[in-house]
Amino acid sequence: MMLAIIGGSGLTKLPGLTITHRQVVRTPYGEPSGALTFGELAGHPVLFLARHGYGHTIPPHLVNYRANIWALASQGATHIASIASVGGIHPEMWPGQFAVPDQIIDYTHGREHTFADYDGKPVTHLDFTWPYCEDMRQRCMQALAEAGEEYLDGGAYGCSQGPRLETKAEIDRMARDGADMVGMTGMPEAYLAREIGLCYAAIAVSVNWAAGRGESQEAITAEAIEANLKQAAERIRTVLVHLARMCCEG
Ligand code: HPA
Repeated sequence: MMLAIIGGSGLTKLPGLTITHRQVVRTPYGEPSGALTFGELAGHPVLFLARHGYGHTIPPHLVNYRANIWALASQGATHIASIASVGGIHPEMWPGQFAVPDQIIDYTHGREHTFADYDGKPVTHLDFTWPYCEDMRQRCMQALAEAGEEYLDGGAYGCSQGPRLETKAEIDRMARDGADMVGMTGMPEAYLAREIGLCYAAIAVSVNWAAGRGESQEAITAEAIEANLKQAAERIRTVLVHLARMCCEG
């Protein structure tokens, strides 16, 4: 198996990754967010891609998800761990809390969300009842446990369109829908991975209470998100070292 890591906000670089080379990949869907980074994490080979570009310049609705997933698959990735910063909706999704979601609610629109071009081919409907790869979810949770982190096993990831944050009423609605956390990039990424046959799971980390919850009653400040992202980065690195060891050994 070959592990690919898609880094989200706050993880445009993977500290501790020894870079062996970078590869510009052309795809039928245009440009990925950047060159793919081939490297080693604690001696284990991994592929890395910064979802928002290495300079963090691509907003969630303009990420070329198809190109990213296609590029990773074309370079031999078989498994993807997506790092996703989220706002916490579930009462235990306080800032700093990890979760490995097992469900998705897609609130996005206007994103290129399928590889299927329906160009004269019969229409198919892929199963997406359980949107994440359970094998990869288990590995992510094991890596979190080995890193000494607590995490929520499961939960529904609500994917909002962004780039703006949500209103309080929108978060209340998401909570009624059953969403436990909210992010902006989980879809169509997870579905495209399913379409192309990659085993995909997400490690979500809460970087703020979602709008109208906890400390975010009045507002969500960029400074708070920034500070939490920074704090999480080193912990995520440790988790990923465990994941790389687990995924890439033998
Ligand atoms: N909403 C949407 N996406 C996010 C948030 C949020 O509150 N925090 C981090 N990503």
